[in-house]
Amino acid sequence: MTNTTSYTSDSFVVEGGNPLRGTVRISGAKNASLPILFATILTEETCTIEDVPDLIDIKNACELLRLLGAEGERAEGRVVIHPSGIKSYETPSHIVRRMRASILSMSPLLGRLRKAKVALPGGCSIGQRPIDQHLKFFSHAGAQVSVKDGFVYLEIEKKRPVEFRFDLITVTGTENALIYLSSVEGRSVLRNIALEPEVMDLAEVLKKMGANIEIEGRTAIIEGTEELRGFQHRVIPDRIEAGTFMVASLLTGGEVLLENVNLNHMGAVLKVLEEIGGRVESLGPDRVKVVRKGAFSPAEVITAEYPGFPTDMQAQVMVLLAITEGRSVIYESIFENRFQHVKELNKMGAKIEVRGRSAFIEGVDKLTGAEVFSTDLRASASLVLAGLIAEGTTVIRDIYHLDRGYERLEEKLKALGASVERLPVLVS
Ligand code: EPZ
Repeated sequence: MTNTTSYTSDSFVVEGGNPLRGTVRISGAKNASLPILFATILTEETCTIEDVPDLIDIKNACELLRLLGAEGERAEGRVVIHPSGIKSYETPSHIVRRMRASILSMSPLLGRLRKAKVALPGGCSIGQRPIDQHLKFFSHAGAQVSVKDGFVYLEIEKKRPVEFRFDLITVTGTENALIYLSSVEGRSVLRNIALEPEVMDLAEVLKKMGANIEIEGRTAIIEGTEELRGFQHRVIPDRIEAGTFMVASLLTGGEVLLENVNLNHMGAVLKVLEEIGGRVESLGPDRVKVVRKGAFSPAEVITAEYPGFPTDMQAQVMVLLAITEGRSVIYESIFENRFQHVKELNKMGAKIEVRGRSAFIEGVDKLTGAEVFSTDLRASASLVLAGLIAEGTTVIRDIYHLDRGYERLEEKLKALGASVERLPVLVS
């Protein structure tokens, strides 16, 4: 199969039918690495971060730090940042357009330089994704906030501690607030915060830097300081990559051993996989195997903020339910448009109907290979999973979505026995 049409990025060619067997090491979490990389802006001292995955989003974040004036090097999962040279307070639009998580630069730039100019992130395929809560926090904290010509301008004369309650639970909103308040002398309180493990990992780093952070329920008490230090930190394992490989093991009727997993971060995912028909065998503090127990049972899955079932695992579990006899339902309560993968899965023979935020799934006994298109990071992962069990060949286009969030996925899958080839884009 040649890739003659010019696509914007590589494609995957997957031959279905191979059960996956063997061991896979889960990479460090992308969504913990990103806020931690931005937190280095708060200090003049060297910061060393271990087990950072080799992803496009990480490259973008490191490029932004260099643009701001930091030095650094990245090799074999270790990132060393020397942030003393940071003097620019502007995050340009070409960076934000590539990676909306660059909005996390607002808080450390405001904290360190008392000014920030950050391009407004657009919506993306999974939803509008406004940042009203971020801006509400900064203005409540005493910053002048204005939006002009596609940029957010933030400026503050005198930093002061603040008490703030989020109207809704937001992961990067919580992270922006924790990063900023860690650099503010005095006692601040945040209410209705996100509790994702990636947020907690960031809090651990901010404490290593010298902030005092106590979290009780969804309330955080932060004693910040202007003198924040450098740190060494190993990033937590990526619970979404782990969940994706657990689903792959179940789907293909294989037996995959995952290493570098923190099961404490995966309660809701494990509960759903066991309910559908997986058996979780823990083989040590960070090693686990998930194998098929018998026939799969239909389920009702509702995504929710942590510790609920993660929206980032919704597309992957949908593939499991698509080949589970009976009727299942998935309710996506976090994003308003996160079912783009449904029409692609239906091209492969799935029977899924979307009504509003609900996807109604009628299980079929098999999927058939087809040409399908990635639309966002986790949707593209679900198309790869579907290809692993589909009859025949599946071609998945626009793989750059996948490269943003999965480190060397085709290598890891091939090592487990999958037939996956990357088709480099040929601009015809
Ligand atoms: C983080 O995005 C993750 N990204 C997302 O992973 C993840 O899907 C999401 O959290 C939910 O868990 C990173 O951590 C880099 P939110 P974030 O703010 O922080 C609404 C990936 O590629 N909202 O928790 O942007 C928002 O529209 C991504 O790994 C507001 O209305 O998500 C959404 O419906 C995909 N106003 C809901 O809240 C705001 O000011 C949750 O968004 C902020 C958010």
